[in-house]
Amino acid sequence: MRQAGRHLPEYRALRDQHDFLEMLTTEELIVEVSLQPWRRYQTDAVIVFSDILLLPKVMGMNLMFLEGQGPKFRKLIANEEDLKALKKFEAERDIPFLTGALKKIKKEIGDRAALIGFAGSPWTVASYMLKDPSTRSGYLLKSCLERLVQETVPYLQAQIEAGAEAIQIFDSWGGNLKAKEYAEWSGSYIKEIVQALRPSGVPCILYIKNSRHLLKEMLAAGPDVISVGWETPLEETKKAAEGKAAIQGNFNPHILMQSKPETIAQETQKMLETMKGYPGYIANLGHGVLPKTPVENVKAFVDTVQQS
Ligand code: CP3
Repeated sequence: MRQAGRHLPEYRALRDQHDFLEMLTTEELIVEVSLQPWRRYQTDAVIVFSDILLLPKVMGMNLMFLEGQGPKFRKLIANEEDLKALKKFEAERDIPFLTGALKKIKKEIGDRAALIGFAGSPWTVASYMLKDPSTRSGYLLKSCLERLVQETVPYLQAQIEAGAEAIQIFDSWGGNLKAKEYAEWSGSYIKEIVQALRPSGVPCILYIKNSRHLLKEMLAAGPDVISVGWETPLEETKKAAEGKAAIQGNFNPHILMQSKPETIAQETQKMLETMKGYPGYIANLGHGVLPKTPVENVKAFVDTVQQS
């Protein structure tokens, strides 16, 4: 998740020397930051260090990083002309640092860990790109969503070609939609992306935070794995997904931050017990590691999962 790296002292040390945008666009820094959590915890998978806002950035939107506020675009999309002025994504020109980094990371981790590439869902990325929230229910929003499907497919295909062995689609703001709105504004666009990636054979994971009311809708988008937020009970998730998709999640990052390692080990055991026997279950958090989380706590989580 977006904050995962930030709890690591080795991430913060690098961040003290480099601007976030420089880190996102420099091959060696991407490789280093991606491998930091793996070196420390020996996780079973490595997610590449990047951001869901990189795609609109390379299409020509001016991304800034405000300390304490996170990433923001300098000028938002206000009309069709602004949208048309964005460049068509071309992997060789736009993300050589990312594809180069993926190749190097895979070379380093080999078969010891799986490599995950990612993108934001059209709905979630559009919610950062568009100016006037009122346009979000109209024509401009639809064209933006369609455009993002067109660009996200080759963006993910390039990551797959460079070595990504699974793809995660982050629909972090999908949870703001009501169940009956979800397919129209988010799910249908994700479905197009998932279908376009099918021939690659690479599994697709769909993550939504605040996903409890959207389990059926998530499954309808057709991902191989649904990744649920910590507010969504795994029992309910199992009932909804049985036979249709694998499940990822959903340890509470607040418990991970606040509890003692022994408590984390116990709570992790409980989560594993709930999912025992479920085909393709992937133990994970329900959202990103909070920046103040002690490394011993994360270690207790990973070790408990791996020893089970
Ligand atoms: O943790 C990792 O290094 C994995 C790579 C990753 C990042 N962003 C790096 C990052 C991933 C998978 C993301 C996805 C992302 N980015 C999402 C979807 C997942 C989620 O968390 O819901 C979203 C919504 C974004 C957009 C974004 N990027 C925001 C809103 C912020 C500010 C977050 C905050 O809480 O301050 C970021 C910044 C960001 N992206 C950081 C990292 C490591 C922190 C940068 C820093 O302060 O050094």
